[in-house]
Amino acid sequence: MKRILVVMGGGRPKGNTAQLVDAFVRGAEEAGHSVEKVSLLKTEVKGCLGCNACRYGKPCVQKDGFNELAPKIKQADLIVFASPLYFWTISSKLKAFIERFYCIAEEDPEPPYGRYEKYPVKDSALLMTSADEFFWTFEQAVSYYQFAIVNYIGFHDRGMVLAGGCGDTNGQPQIDKTGHLQEAYEFGKNIYRNL
Ligand SMILES: Cc1cc2nc3c(=O)[nH]c(=O)nc-3n(C[C@H](O)[C@H](O)[C@H](O)COP(=O)(O)O)c2cc1C
Repeated sequence: MKRILVVMGGGRPKGNTAQLVDAFVRGAEEAGHSVEKVSLLKTEVKGCLGCNACRYGKPCVQKDGFNELAPKIKQADLIVFASPLYFWTISSKLKAFIERFYCIAEEDPEPPYGRYEKYPVKDSALLMTSADEFFWTFEQAVSYYQFAIVNYIGFHDRGMVLAGGCGDTNGQPQIDKTGHLQEAYEFGKNIYRNL
């Protein structure tokens, strides 16, 4: 049994991303994992100010939703980053959440090449929805996830569901007309199957 924290970077409350997340959660719970879902629409997290107080032993100067999320991050085995595609990348809400990892970093006397500090070691996954489904649709988002979350923060990627072709936000969510909900359900169900 793994502890899974799903962080949703916005999207409409019953929209494509929320449905994709719910399908993943259903699969993961059926497989026996314990899942907690947090929406950054309700739990507001602002971006980092770069004040560096956290680098001098002080807690983050910003008093917002990240304070309640930090212990959840530390307890989780897997953190799932979920977002609609906004202007070809993750939402600003999810980006702000990731920026705040700065204040949970710890000193690393011997950081690996290209890294300056150490972060809690976690597994990670990415769930995204979009209107388009070109071969390049998720390129920026996936590139950011791989650079920032996997290569830099050092999380161990367990995979992603990139749900293109879900319709734009001018109409009803269309994800139920695609195969992506089934894909997310199976992803959740099998995410630790090979362990
Ligand atoms: C501000 C904004 C920017 C968007 N940018 C893109 C985009 O760059 N590419 C794309 O394919 N869809 C884009 N979309 C469409 C959404 O990604 C898509 O409809 C998504 O499934 C909406 O998620 P939701 O139903 O969870 O709100 C955008 C939508 C909004 C509101």
